[in-house]
Amino acid sequence: MRVLVVGDNTFEYSRTLRDKPGMEGTHITATGIESKEEVEDLLKNVNDSKLKKFPSSQENFEVRHGVNATRLQENFPNLREENKFDKIIFNNPQAGKKGVDDVDLKTGNLIDGVLTSSPQVLQQGGEVHFGVTSSTRALGLLKLQDHYQTSQEQGFTEIAGRKFEVRLVDTKRDEYEFSVKYPARRTEGTKLRNSQGPSYYYIFKLLA
Ligand SMILES: C[S@@+](CC[C@H](N)C(=O)[O-])C[C@H]1O[C@@H](n2cnc3c(N)ncnc32)[C@H](O)[C@@H]1O
Repeated sequence: MRVLVVGDNTFEYSRTLRDKPGMEGTHITATGIESKEEVEDLLKNVNDSKLKKFPSSQENFEVRHGVNATRLQENFPNLREENKFDKIIFNNPQAGKKGVDDVDLKTGNLIDGVLTSSPQVLQQGGEVHFGVTSSTRALGLLKLQDHYQTSQEQGFTEIAGRKFEVRLVDTKRDEYEFSVKYPARRTEGTKLRNSQGPSYYYIFKLLA
């Protein structure tokens, strides 16, 4: 299985996922939009001595910087069919700066941007997973719920001419293989409340 993690600013999630028992055969491409220098800066917020080290690629774990999740084809051009991803995971998406921008609106657009970009790098039947905290004010929640509701009503939601079926996973109640405990971060690198990772995942399955 091939998994693409996007928006992982400190790479704590993808590295914890890599080390989760049972993930040995899974290929993870771990990415963030930040540059190498920005990641170095963000890592100053990390306490765990292992995760504080700069992330590096190894067998079955590829690290990439400067990856805009709304422009996936540019970042992964000419992917051969067998190298396309089965899953794309984006935990706690946030676009824009709180107090400056309309972050909820921007985050909704970011979510649609990722979904619009995803079919070019996804396997047939591949999925895009968005993780959010249990807060009713989680950014992008309205957009995710809107797509979920539409899919419940008509069997799919349509984004840029492509159809996705949406399901909701509660990590406390349901089995979710990509769930790990890690200190979720704000965009600036400080801790996101006391979150140890998303409570809910909205899963968008690309229909043929
Ligand atoms: C609230 S932080 C969450 C960080 C991490 N995923 C976590 O759960 O700890 C939101 C992240 O979304 C990233 N982001 C915003 N726009 C993005 C884009 N177009 N492509 C990739 N990442 C983006 C930010 O850089 C930031 O790292």
